[in-house]
Amino acid sequence: MSSSKTIQVKEKKLEEISGIGPATAEKLKEAGYSDLMSIAIESPRNLAEICEIGESTAAKIIASAKEAVDIGGFETGDEILERRRLIGRLTTGSKALDELIGGGLETQAITEVYGEFGSGKTQLCHQAAVTATMPEDRGGLNGEIVMIDTENTFRPERIAQMSSAMGLDPVETLKKIHVARAYNSAHQMLLVEKAAELAKEKPVRLLLVDSLTAHFRAEYVGRGTLAERQQALNTHMHALLRFGDLHNAVILCTNQVAAKPDAFFGDPTRPIGGHIVGHTATYRIYLRKSKAGKRIARLVDSPSLPEAECVVTVNEDGIRD
Ligand code: GTP
Ligand code: MG
Repeated sequence: MSSSKTIQVKEKKLEEISGIGPATAEKLKEAGYSDLMSIAIESPRNLAEICEIGESTAAKIIASAKEAVDIGGFETGDEILERRRLIGRLTTGSKALDELIGGGLETQAITEVYGEFGSGKTQLCHQAAVTATMPEDRGGLNGEIVMIDTENTFRPERIAQMSSAMGLDPVETLKKIHVARAYNSAHQMLLVEKAAELAKEKPVRLLLVDSLTAHFRAEYVGRGTLAERQQALNTHMHALLRFGDLHNAVILCTNQVAAKPDAFFGDPTRPIGGHIVGHTATYRIYLRKSKAGKRIARLVDSPSLPEAECVVTVNEDGIRD
């Protein structure tokens, strides 16, 4: 498996754009325009209002942002084929779960794991962090890991335990896992940029966001905030996707479930984040508790695989069949 070298990384900072001084940059960041892309696609009127600048100045900033940002443009089919040839798979520790999702967690894609408390989402993140450091012939990505931890549930002791179970040196494994606490949703979004910076120096092949939605859910409450929340989540999801593409990395996010207020029939739970999260995630896995440490994993949504289920175990060693 090749590394992300063939994929270009080019991203300027806000302050490097003509027309954006430190004060304006600060205002933009506060308003959630954390990257150039979000400015490049904004309208002059909105930007002018938010930054308290003239519309013509806003238009100039947008024009500069458009020039500086790697908008993406068009890729020919053969280039896409070439990029897709690089797609890798990361083992989850369970053969059954790997098979359920087509051979392991896919790079250049977002996998969302949702389920109620204690269903094993955080355990799966820890397990993936360990296997991602392993060589490719063992189902790993020979890489380093970025973990965006929003709930302070990262446990190095658990990583050490899982590493030993895989025959890996716990300290060496821990050295490859870069953890950042996200204090709120804006911080969480900013940390994706930080991850991109880190990925210039380290071969980051797995980006974990545990939990993807908790901050958004807590911050955007009440009527009238839903559209705003979904917009922010959308921006976040696309930044994650972009990271996955640029670095040929696995993006693994966790999500909680909320009771449907009017669900009398069928599954009484659904993932947070609605269509935005659902449509941007390439794979959705629903985890639920079963007897004696067992979990049932259900593949809910994928581009080419049928809905199906498998059983996994959470034990001292980690995630297993
Ligand atoms: P929330 O973040 O609260 O929504 O839950 P989650 O889905 O992240 O749950 P998490 O992954 O933290 O799962 C916790 C469960 O994993 C525990 O209740 C245990 O059942 C299991 N577990 C965690 N560590 C161990 C361990 O060392 N041994 C065993 N046997 N089980 C463990
Ligand atoms: Mg958790």
